[in-house]
Amino acid sequence: MQILDGKALAAKIRKKAADEVAALKNKGITPGLAVVLIGDNPASHTYVKMKEKACEETGIYSIVHKMPDDISEEKILETIHMMNNNPNIDGILVQLPLPGHIDTRKVLDAVSPQKDVDGFHPTNVGELVLDIDCFVPCTPLGVMHLLDEYDINVKGLDACVVGASNIVGKPMMHLLLNRFATVDICHIHTKNLKAHTSRADLLIVGVGKEKLITEDMVKEGAIVIDIGINKTSEGQIVGDVDYENVAPKCSYITPVPGGVGPMTIAMLLENTIKSAKARHHVS
Ligand code: GUN
Repeated sequence: MQILDGKALAAKIRKKAADEVAALKNKGITPGLAVVLIGDNPASHTYVKMKEKACEETGIYSIVHKMPDDISEEKILETIHMMNNNPNIDGILVQLPLPGHIDTRKVLDAVSPQKDVDGFHPTNVGELVLDIDCFVPCTPLGVMHLLDEYDINVKGLDACVVGASNIVGKPMMHLLLNRFATVDICHIHTKNLKAHTSRADLLIVGVGKEKLITEDMVKEGAIVIDIGINKTSEGQIVGDVDYENVAPKCSYITPVPGGVGPMTIAMLLENTIKSAKARHHVS
């Protein structure tokens, strides 16, 4: 069994990103990221702080637009339009979830597809489906980088994605399909989860449920990617996979923490640099 070390790979990518930003700055280009953070969800605040810190370390300019929970949809849309038109901003990210009174789809659709470093705009979603170069959501993109780093070729593999969210499961499914894996996608209404997971050569889980995947649900020699981040009653951070019992059966597995998590932010930096390059027509 080999551990897929996302922490190490993310550090490597972040170093490369810092070098790329330095080279862009020599050409007079400073990549810029704008984040919209609404309300006081503690997890969202933590994630945004991590994103700000990562930008700072990489040399990317970042600005966070913090707004109260009761902000109007109109004000949010106004801020997004302002950033769409700001030449110093290459990437725009709306931290999710948004408060209940806000139409999330309407807000995400307002982000210019050229600045949509989260890959949530319908234009980017459609391009991903068509396998056209586009902005791909950071977490599933990070999974692909991690597989590539360990020379894992998914072509022809039986893959199973558990969790069908717009942010993780669905884009993950398309990335795998674009590489010619055979993809099964499971969700809350799947009748017999084990029947699907236990035939997978590559099992990718992003649900947010501690110990959802137990040893009996995993094929011997499978590659297991755990995207879940859960806090146990003892305050420990764990994934969706019962790591201790599943790991011995795997050929490769990601730990939590230190697996997919650190890759997400590294991909945000990559996407922001990609946008800056595209917008300034440099390669
Ligand atoms: N909330 C949870 N994950 C994400 C993410 O990847 N991007 C954004 N914008 N919000 C999130």
